[in-house]
Parts: sequence; structure tokens; C-alpha cells
Amino acid sequence: MDRKASRIAIIGAGPCGLSQMLAFVKAEATGVQIPEIVCFEKQEDWGGLWNFSWQTGIDKFGESVHSSMYRHLWINGPKECYEFPDYTFDKHFSKPVPSYLTREAFREYILGRVKESNLRRFILFNNAVRLVEFDQEKDQFKVRVEDLASGKHRIYLFDYVIVATGHFSTPHVPDFEGIERFTGRVLHSHDFRDAEQFAGLNLLIVGGSYSAEDIALQSYKFGAKSIIISYRTKPIGFNWPKGIEEVPILMHIEDNIAHFKDGSQRKVDVIVLCTGYQHHFPFIPDTLRLFTSNRQYPSQLYKGMLFQDQPRLIYLGMQNQFFSLTLFDAQAWYARDVILRRIRIPELEERTIDIAKWKARESLITSPLEGVDFQASYMEELMDSTDCTPFNVKGVVALLKGWEHDKKEDILGYRDKTFTSPITGTRSVAPSVLWINAKSQAK
Ligand SMILES: Cc1cc2nc3c(=O)[nH]c(=O)nc-3n(C[C@H](O)[C@H](O)[C@H](O)COP(=O)(O)OP(=O)(O)OC[C@H]3O[C@@H](n4cnc5c(N)ncnc54)[C@H](O)[C@@H]3O)c2cc1C
Ligand SMILES: NC(=O)c1ccc[n+]([C@@H]2O[C@H](COP(=O)([O-])OP(=O)(O)OC[C@H]3O[C@@H](n4cnc5c(N)ncnc54)[C@H](OP(=O)(O)O)[C@@H]3O)[C@@H](O)[C@H]2O)c1
Repeated sequence: MDRKASRIAIIGAGPCGLSQMLAFVKAEATGVQIPEIVCFEKQEDWGGLWNFSWQTGIDKFGESVHSSMYRHLWINGPKECYEFPDYTFDKHFSKPVPSYLTREAFREYILGRVKESNLRRFILFNNAVRLVEFDQEKDQFKVRVEDLASGKHRIYLFDYVIVATGHFSTPHVPDFEGIERFTGRVLHSHDFRDAEQFAGLNLLIVGGSYSAEDIALQSYKFGAKSIIISYRTKPIGFNWPKGIEEVPILMHIEDNIAHFKDGSQRKVDVIVLCTGYQHHFPFIPDTLRLFTSNRQYPSQLYKGMLFQDQPRLIYLGMQNQFFSLTLFDAQAWYARDVILRRIRIPELEERTIDIAKWKARESLITSPLEGVDFQASYMEELMDSTDCTPFNVKGVVALLKGWEHDKKEDILGYRDKTFTSPITGTRSVAPSVLWINAKSQAK
């Protein structure tokens, strides 16, 4: 089971895939012999979701556009919660900068860390993985890949496969009675690029999570006439400014009138479905596929990463994320050490017990704050097993909990706050333009 690897595949060169390659390069720098690595990336550049695209639907190769980001997106937690301990913001920016970075600045930070590491040598860009199978006879994975520029398919053999394809790219699109006759525009948050087009319009946003919250805020900022957020389970519950209102779930639509569960109705011009994403792995057969919703601990993964029925198949970053970048590192270092046989993978029974232990803890989570504690413990367990650069996880937990509080206090102003890095002690500076007034694109 813990076979010595001579060749590994990484699928995806987003933040997770980059962490994985870097983990190997750091081991190599200490004199360790690392396996041959091939990273397949279907986009023409690295950065994953952080590569903004004006396109929606399909790209020039007929592939679904990966990015779900929009023009004026800023990160939605303080940057100090995501800081790499081995590549601090001080190192990247050489001076204190605001806590809430623009999409462009955050992307530059993620990429700044790997630029010196010569990772591009591993990556085949414009190469989409079409099929991953396990060949019992050869005891290896067979990976079919399409070179998008030439259309040619090739088969590669690997000892380990690491899936780092993200899970916020394939929209979950529920149906609502009468929506097919709606006279306005309907789109999913995956295809949302800019709120300027909604100025003067009445917007209906369906969903009760981060996309619903932020697209409502963007639309408010860019002059939507009215914004209704329709939630399924519970309201987001912030102290919304006049013009944003929450109502229970949408029941049906007649022409351009939306009817909600509480009996209320509204005339709307645009519907934005902020109804989340699917974990979508069309290139993996059922026997190897992860089936999960966006949660803290997917059931089929030992240590939240190693596929239970075939632990040489590793899924990175499949959890709902509070920590993001440092979580990806913790997983990538652990996966590397499994592959380098520094960490022993126990037999099936022991793995099952371990998964059950984490699932039992997950079932006790009743709030986002408890979710933060859960993810911190999970990360710490992984980090304790490797030489992943340690950092003040408890300090970041405190920041994340304060962040939830900030949003409750002032949903329009939370992105103007400043924070102290638990890693460097550097205090961030206030943004030169308040978030609500920042309407031009960052350079
Ligand atoms: C709207 C939005 C805003 C967000 N904002 C924040 C934020 O403020 N802060 C934060 O920390 N996180 C944020 N996130 C979370 C985001 O998921 C992570 O920051 C991060 O991008 C996840 O990295 P990843 O490598 O797992 O996946 P991705 O970034 O999705 O990268 C996956 C890569 O796999 C490639 N790929 C997919 N399928 C194939 C295939 N078959 N063959 C080859 N390559 C393939 C893709 O092209 C892509 O490059 C946001 C997410 C969304 C949707
Ligand atoms: N940087 C930023 O500003 C920013 C902006 C947007 C998103 N993001 C990130 O993007 C990621 C994804 O966020 P997300 O909000 O798109 O997805 P999400 O957190 O998974 O939430 C999905 C939402 O869709 C709702 N939903 C699902 N099916 C529904 C249905 N049939 N009817 C009504 N509602 C339904 C869910 O409702 P229930 O609650 O009832 O399950 C939930 O509220 C997160 O990591 C987030 O941090 C960041």
C-alpha cells in the first residue's frame, strides 16, 4: 500500500497543486531524492481560481471556464488568516499593506512564493486530465490526458495521483418553478463577473452563504435599486443597509414576480443563484471518486485527503475552507511524506476508525466558530507529523473568530479593519480608499 513512488501526477496548478510541488522541492533542497512529478493543468497559467477570466461558459478550447471570481473581488477574510509562515506578507510586499487585499494582490502573493522555486518545470499547461484509472496488473494509475492545443490524447503511468482540481468551479443549479418563463436574466454566481450591469435593477439573490453575501454587497455598492436575498435554511443575519433584505426561500416565479415561502412577493429584474458548487470529477470513475458536499470532513478520506479504498489517490483541499492556503500546505506536506514513506499509512480498519473519530467531531459543529476550531485541530494534527513550517494557529483562530464578529458589527465596513499578523507581529494599514468607495479595478 505505501508503495515507493517513482512517478506522481498532480492534477491542477491552483494553490493546492502549487503547495504540493513546493513541498517536494523543499524536501529536494535538503538532499532528499524526490519522485518524478508531472502536473497537468488545463489552463494556460497557474493560480487556479485566482486567474480571473472575462469569459463565462466555455473557453477557446471548449473547456468549461474554471474561474468563479469577479472583477472587483477582494478577499473576504483578513490576509493575516492566510499568511504563509515561510513567505510572509512583509517579505512579499516589503511594507505593511491593508488586511483585505484585492483579488489581484492576493494572486500575486500566492504566486510570489513559488516564483523562485522553478516549479514550472513540472507543469504541462493546456493539458486536461480526461481519465484516471487504476491498473491492478501494473499496480499503477493510468492517466489519460488531452493536450488542448493539439487535441492529442496521451496515456501516462503513475504510482500516485494527487487531485488538486478545486471544488468551487462547477455550479450547483437548482430549479425553481416558473423560472423557465422568467422574463429577466438568470445566472449562477460562477458566471458573475461585475455588478455594474445591475445598477438601477431589482435583484434577487438565492442562497445563504458567502457568495450570496458578497454579490449582494457588490450589487449594493454598484447601485442596484433593491436586493432581496432568499435563504433556504437560515438568514445570513447581518445588519444590512437599507436596500438589502433577507426573505425565506423562493417558491415559484410568475413572469417577473418572485414568490417566497413567507407569502411575500417581489418584482425582480435579475436572479443570481448563489447556490454553491459541486465536487465534480468527471475524469474519475465511481470506484475512485469522492462524493461529498462542501463540508469540514468528507467521509471517504483518511486524514481528510487519502482515498479510503485506494490511498495512493490523494485529494487536496476538498474541505470547506476557513484557513485555505496554510491548510493546503499542511495537507501537501503530509501527502508528500506519505509518498516519501516518512509517514506510514495504517491498514483499512485503523483508517476507518480514524475517519469515524473525525466524523463524530464534525457532527458536533453547530456554528462557523466551532468549524474554525475543528479545522484548526485537523490542521495541527497534520502539521505535527511533518516539517511544514509551524505557526501560531491559535492566533489565526482568534482572528477568524473576530472576523465573524466584525461582519456582524458592520457588514459594509468590515473590510476596512486592520489586523496584526500572528506570524510577524506587523500591523496592517487601513486601505487608502474604503471598500464601499473602491470602485476602480486594482492594478
Ligand atoms: C468566488 C470565490 C472567492 C474566493 N475567495 C477566497 C478568499 O477570499 N480567500 C481564500 O483564501 N479563498 C477564497 N476562495 C477559495 C478558493 O477555493 C481557494 O483560495 C483556492 O483557489 C483553492 O485552490 P485549489 O488549488 O484547491 O483549487 P483551484 O484554485 O480551483 O485550482 C484548481 C486547478 O485545477 C485545474 N483543473 C481542474 N480540472 C482539471 C483537469 N481535469 N485537468 C487539469 N487541470 C484541471 C484548474 O484549471 C485549476 O487551475 C474563493 C473561492 C471562490 C469561488
Ligand atoms: N472573497 C470573497 O469575497 C468571496 C465571495 C464569494 C465566495 N467566496 C468563497 O467561495 C466559496 C463558495 O461559497 P458559496 O457561497 O458559493 O457556496 P457555499 O458556501 O457552499 O454555500 C452554498 C449556499 O447555497 C445554498 N443552496 C444550495 N442549494 C440551494 C437550493 N436548492 N435553494 C436555495 N439555496 C440553496 C446553501 O443553502 P443552505 O445554507 O440552506 O445549505 C448555501 O447557503 C467559499 O469558500 C467562499 O468563501 C469568497
